[in-house]
Amino acid sequence: MTSDIGARQGASANAVEHHYDIGTEFYRLWLGPDLTYSCALWADGDDLDRAQQRKLDYLIEQARLTGTERILDIGCGWGSLMRAITDRHAQTRVTGLTLSRDQYRHVRAHAAERTDVRLQHWQDHRPDSPYDTIFCIGALEHFVRFGLSRRERTATYRAFFTYCHSMVRPGGGLVVQTIGKGNRPLDQNSITDVQFLADEIFPESDPPRLAELAHASEKLFEIRSVVNDRHHYATTCAEWLRRLRARRAEAKKLAGARVTEAYERYLEASIRQFEEEHLVLYRIALRRVGDAEAASE
Ligand SMILES: C[S@@+](CC[C@H](N)C(=O)[O-])C[C@H]1O[C@@H](n2cnc3c(N)ncnc32)[C@H](O)[C@@H]1O
Repeated sequence: MTSDIGARQGASANAVEHHYDIGTEFYRLWLGPDLTYSCALWADGDDLDRAQQRKLDYLIEQARLTGTERILDIGCGWGSLMRAITDRHAQTRVTGLTLSRDQYRHVRAHAAERTDVRLQHWQDHRPDSPYDTIFCIGALEHFVRFGLSRRERTATYRAFFTYCHSMVRPGGGLVVQTIGKGNRPLDQNSITDVQFLADEIFPESDPPRLAELAHASEKLFEIRSVVNDRHHYATTCAEWLRRLRARRAEAKKLAGARVTEAYERYLEASIRQFEEEHLVLYRIALRRVGDAEAASE
């Protein structure tokens, strides 16, 4: 296993733009006004907006913020977590990283106080001093390409955890939410779905296995909790699909018929993948180890 943080095995900026830079208004139609693009956390009676707020609250709670932290959000999307943190904690400062130009422009144009956004790969981001907490929500899925060996994949995740270890203060938190590969063998329909998702929707990307993350974070981070909420992602994708279908005519005007049809197929395939346990959804809270504070807990 290498700790070389120079190795780049994930989605290139072009591959990220292929997915995210097809128009913020197209995404707003089905993600909703907050533009949160990751699995929500559902409770009885929730609509999508409430379930996304519940998710943001949960992730922020997992970070155990005291309210004065400097925070890094790797893969900040359109900035909903950054806004949620600064709204809830009046003295926090949050830096967000994205590889999508559309997202970068959007976050800059709607900049909340005490936030800063960079169009930057995490490997290129070198702050003057370590952060207190790092979040990485729905971005780890882009850090390795489809088709790499397990050894290469684990080495790449090791590079990510090594980076986070060096960018967060001793005892600091790392909160990750990511799709993971499930344990059910793929049938022919699922293989077709996976190939479609890899070729058309998320080029140069592939989700991790839990064992790869556990192995890659060894002696760098203590894993405090792991929750698998795959049914919550099936529900989230079903709600996104319902909204996209309800606004199909507008979607076609904004992004074209081909993209709209591909996105309906992507969301249908994703619902199946989560329901059938070919994909899972991990919410993982970690804490940097190797310091006196962690040792005394
Ligand atoms: C599915 S979106 C999730 C956005 C946001 N966290 C949310 O929950 O709404 C994935 C994000 O990861 C970012 N991303 C992917 N690879 C990245 C990399 N190597 N460095 C920084 N950001 C990256 C994308 O630009 C995008 O903002």
